[in-house]
Amino acid sequence: MAIDSSRSPGDSWDLASSVGATATMVAAARALASTAADPIVVDSFAAPLVRAVGLDFFTRLVDGDITRDDQAERELQFITESIAVRTRFFDEFFRDAARDGLRQYVILAAGLDARAYRLPWPSDSVVYEIDQPAVVEFKSTTMSQLGAVPAAQRQTVSIDLRDDWPNALRHSGFDDTQPTAWSAEGLLMYLPPEAQDRLFDNITELSSAGSRLATEYHPDTGSTLAQRAQEFTQRWTTLGCDIDLTGLFYDGERSNVVDYLTGRGWLVGTRPRRALFTDYGRIFPDDMSQLGDIVAVTATL
Ligand SMILES: C[S@@+](CC[C@H](N)C(=O)[O-])C[C@H]1O[C@@H](n2cnc3c(N)ncnc32)[C@H](O)[C@@H]1O
Repeated sequence: MAIDSSRSPGDSWDLASSVGATATMVAAARALASTAADPIVVDSFAAPLVRAVGLDFFTRLVDGDITRDDQAERELQFITESIAVRTRFFDEFFRDAARDGLRQYVILAAGLDARAYRLPWPSDSVVYEIDQPAVVEFKSTTMSQLGAVPAAQRQTVSIDLRDDWPNALRHSGFDDTQPTAWSAEGLLMYLPPEAQDRLFDNITELSSAGSRLATEYHPDTGSTLAQRAQEFTQRWTTLGCDIDLTGLFYDGERSNVVDYLTGRGWLVGTRPRRALFTDYGRIFPDDMSQLGDIVAVTATL
């Protein structure tokens, strides 16, 4: 399953290629996390979606067909718990926003995220999902074949986030006079640094007062981010996966997310991944990883 991991301006993919395969990767981790004895999240759509994509390694992984030694077992537990913790953080962000009266939500780079179907949205709410066309199309078709019904009005926007997505979002019915809850999960490192800044500029411009944003980022940029990509790749390689994340991430210096958002009028709160593990009843294995420093961000305008 060698995946081409080179990047170029305007590149595109489906869920079995390039950056799209990383959506299948995290969905596989969510599928396994959902089977834990005491799960942090339960996403019953993750396994069927992964099987439908048909990448052999991930299908075998969710079906329990990968032979694992003790080290691989520990790696897998760490990977699945990390993704489960991340998923739970964004789930709670949206649940809080719904509880506090927001009714318009935008999931940027939705991939195989099934939140539109999985979370108990208020019936008068609308969830916009943005991702590349082949990704959006595949998920919509597969979920409908699975008989899944969105719990809110679901509006898909098929576009690259390096293009004029605000215009496409508006054309899909987005109302910039209403406060919005935005998520950018598992996205920033796949955008060139200047596209990350533009993303936050666009979000800010589309956000009326009271809007909220959740994202997470690596506090280190440049060569340190490249080392992190190497750590992710190494962990998955231990399990027998051959996707090279180092080529898919954009390194280079990028803005500090907290400073950038603060400078644009957002009130920003942060929580390191390590602390989220504790919040959800797990212990972050500091002896295994530097990734505890990843920062989960919630911001309000
Ligand atoms: C690691 S996956 C995360 C998917 C989802 N947020 C989740 O956590 O399950 C990265 C996602 O970002 C999307 N993505 C990355 N760069 C993008 C771009 N320039 N335009 C649209 N989508 C993009 C990919 O298609 C993929 O679905």
